[in-house]
Amino acid sequence: MSYTYNPLYTHFKGDDLSRAELIERKVVEIILKSKMSDEDRSWSKTFELKHSSAVTQIGRILAQKRGLDSELGAIICAMHDISVFVTGRVTDHAHKGAPIARRILEKTKKFTPKEIELVTSAIYNHSDKHVVSKNPYVELVKDADVLDCGLYCGVHDAYIYEKSQESCKHYFARIQRVRKELGLPKDKKWDHLDYVEQGKAYFEKHEGHNHSKK
Ligand SMILES: [Fe+2]
Repeated sequence: MSYTYNPLYTHFKGDDLSRAELIERKVVEIILKSKMSDEDRSWSKTFELKHSSAVTQIGRILAQKRGLDSELGAIICAMHDISVFVTGRVTDHAHKGAPIARRILEKTKKFTPKEIELVTSAIYNHSDKHVVSKNPYVELVKDADVLDCGLYCGVHDAYIYEKSQESCKHYFARIQRVRKELGLPKDKKWDHLDYVEQGKAYFEKHEGHNHSKK
């Protein structure tokens, strides 16, 4: 049984998609079609789908709030981790993602060279959370990225585990800034540079001490 087509909104079906919808669908298809199992991936496909979709929507919200082009903001955010989705691996994914995004955008023939430059340079630079860029689209994707990650339970302590204290300071300050900008209540865990979620209990159980990096 097929459903009646609604001419007012595509729900990402068919050929009559906006540029952002086209790219968003492409990203989802890349993740769904990948044959690499979750076991072999840095992240799970579930997380890849959730994170790319959430960052895209947060990107739209921040772009509207900041008076930026929300179509381009959404496209940058949808593709910001494209290298992770294509390769399954997170290593150096910002730099590796820029040429992949360029190929996808060029293939559509719907973007100007200037737009492609803007999108790919934002993707290339998005992992440098310690840098405050003069390019508002670079800041947009960094902020949308950390805001989404920071909403998942356990990510605070995961950052403490995998990143240097210096890097955590920048991530946490960025999360606090963007939460404040959006009028969200203060989340005190981002004041802490030691384990406050599952980390403390985990390391007491497994190693008998707090494994916090200094
Ligand atoms: Fe991300």
